Amino acid sequence: MRGTSVDDLLSRMSAEEKVSLIVGAGSSRLVHGASGETRALDRLGVPSIVLGDGPAGVRIYPARLGVEGVFYATAFPAEVALASTWNLELVERVGRAIAEEAKEYGVDVLLAPAVNMHRIPLCGRIFEYFSEDPILAGEMATAYVKGVQSEGVGATIKHFVCNDQEEGRMHIDVVVSERALREIYLRPFEIAIKRAKPWALMAAYNKVRGLYCTQNSWLLTRVLREEWGYEGLVMTDWMAGDDPLEQVKAGCDLIMPGDDRVLKSLLEAYKQGSLSEQILTQRARNVLNLVVKSLKARGYKASNKPDLEGHARIAYEAALEGMVLLKNESALPLAEGAKVALFGRGSYWTIGVGLGSGRVHSKYVVSVAEGLRERGLTIDPNVEKVYVSTVHRSSSNASYQAFRRMRESALRSGDPLTIEFLLNWLAEEIMEWTRTVNIQEDFFTDDFLDEVARRNDTAVITISRVSSEGFDRAPARGDFYLRDDEQRLIARVSQAFHKHGKKVVVLLNVPGPVEVVSWRDLVDAILVIWLPGQEGGRAIADLLLGRVSPSGKLPFTWPKDLFECPAMRTYPGEPKHAPTRVVYNEGIYVGYRYYDTFGVEPAYEFGYGLSYTTFEYRDLVVDRADGKLVVKFKVRNVGSCSGKEVAQVYVRALASKLDRPFQELKGFYKTRALAPGEEEEVTITIPMEYLASFDGKCWVVERGPYEIRVGTSSRDVKLKAVLHVEVELEV
Ligand code: BGC
Repeated sequence: MRGTSVDDLLSRMSAEEKVSLIVGAGSSRLVHGASGETRALDRLGVPSIVLGDGPAGVRIYPARLGVEGVFYATAFPAEVALASTWNLELVERVGRAIAEEAKEYGVDVLLAPAVNMHRIPLCGRIFEYFSEDPILAGEMATAYVKGVQSEGVGATIKHFVCNDQEEGRMHIDVVVSERALREIYLRPFEIAIKRAKPWALMAAYNKVRGLYCTQNSWLLTRVLREEWGYEGLVMTDWMAGDDPLEQVKAGCDLIMPGDDRVLKSLLEAYKQGSLSEQILTQRARNVLNLVVKSLKARGYKASNKPDLEGHARIAYEAALEGMVLLKNESALPLAEGAKVALFGRGSYWTIGVGLGSGRVHSKYVVSVAEGLRERGLTIDPNVEKVYVSTVHRSSSNASYQAFRRMRESALRSGDPLTIEFLLNWLAEEIMEWTRTVNIQEDFFTDDFLDEVARRNDTAVITISRVSSEGFDRAPARGDFYLRDDEQRLIARVSQAFHKHGKKVVVLLNVPGPVEVVSWRDLVDAILVIWLPGQEGGRAIADLLLGRVSPSGKLPFTWPKDLFECPAMRTYPGEPKHAPTRVVYNEGIYVGYRYYDTFGVEPAYEFGYGLSYTTFEYRDLVVDRADGKLVVKFKVRNVGSCSGKEVAQVYVRALASKLDRPFQELKGFYKTRALAPGEEEEVTITIPMEYLASFDGKCWVVERGPYEIRVGTSSRDVKLKAVLHVEVELEV
């Protein structure tokens, strides 16, 4: 359809055709396993475009019925791990690589990134979201979107807004002050929309201030279009809301996944006059604007042969930079060729990606064991044997039952796509659950452990958790809290190894935080590996061996206890067993904004992460130029190995009339790899509007002194300076 203008197409289009454009065609038949597609208008040469998840890689079925070959996609680290890199250039490259895959598999629009907030540690989708901080999330999303769209694939920023928990997500009403909404929850959307112009936005399932987000014209029209000037397409989340007509009127351009019932109801509404010609045409125009930009409309022919090898290297780099070293008491790095005993089923079945729509079907996930072995470490064969036989035995019965049930329902349904769905998606999901849920860990005798400790140099214990959209993690043992058998495993392995003067390292293979305070003193090192994607094991090995120094930092506050997190006071909402309303009582005091302001000590603070080397900060100069705050300083590697540092800039308003957090992140920078003794001059440019607060009516940068705090974490501030804003700025 090259050369055809949207105006021309609209002028030749009937109302029926316009309605068919704004209602999706159900799950994709063009690209099996992609979440949806738009309807084609053959008469006018308008193709159907394909929409696919999102955010850790392209989610399509690896196998297609009756089609030879496999369609694997690269599993990149989850968003939470990407944010932990604090490396915008790297995240942009990840976005570009995901888009290259989307392009070669025929996916025109990627349903990512997601920028909801880490409000509660239990959120089932925490791994799919970047951070508890809106600026970090907004900047990450900007980089991701730029990367994706540089390949001609559309990015979809989601879920607009406040889908910060999964409990009750389809109907829950989020009650939140306008200030918190604007300063925390809308902010990452606003930043990415203004700076990267995502082609699409997905409105969330939940309600905000009484109305479904998809049916909320204040959100979708007033804020998004009128205030922010957003010009892209707005789609609903899949089966969101309860009234398609209201969705279209409020500002949704595309109802997803769409079906004939919705189509008929909208056509009827048009005929009866409740859907105006003007609104219908505007919505159809927005869909067409997206379609004409798509690779499909520009005649691109997908090869089904993405550069999986090249992308694996990028997935490896991102995994490497996102892992966060929480503790290291002379345990790491390990010596080359060390003998290691690997405990915890996650050491052998490392969870690479989360479940639900954030899942990616990759050809492999390199486990901790495989990664260490590949890098020349010796893995204790006797411990491995125990895991392989015990875990395999206990998971296989459950999997068999699950497969039987699936096979029966697949056979009942004659639809090939349903059969494919069952075979591809559910099968893997169930396998993952059965591997990770409730398999006891502590099955070693004291004598066995003693022997193992005697013949190995180090113990590595992996604790794994899996998570999915649709439900939150549990505030219970086995989820946020470690199970008794996991606690016993850590205690007994530590005792045995320490008795022989050997060290113990724990790897946390988790989507978000777990409780650490009750056991962290027992072990010598803790490395958070997140859901690291398919290359996880290799990245872990290189970090453990010190071939690369860890450089990830936490994108959220790691609480000592779940119930210290302020949002837990109202979670999951009311009524508790099936919440329909949740009040964000903590207002703007989300994450470190709460912990810092109210003097609560977390287990590990926002921005925290250790390295094998140390950095010195000096020569801070703060200036204003062209409506920007310019922060300059020097970072020098004063340790004995090479490493990258994440320098963070926090701003503290010293004399504010408003109620304000103790400090807020306003900028950050990841250095290049600095050799020992090497220095980098850092310049961080912060738009003045990042300093603004929402005073109830508008955004203002109050006049007065601001402390500019430069640090290696939110609680390890190395340099300070004061900047005076002489005149109040309205933004
Ligand atoms: C999720 C979205 C996803 C969509 C399509 C929904 O359940 O909330 O994030 O993009 O499904 O798979």
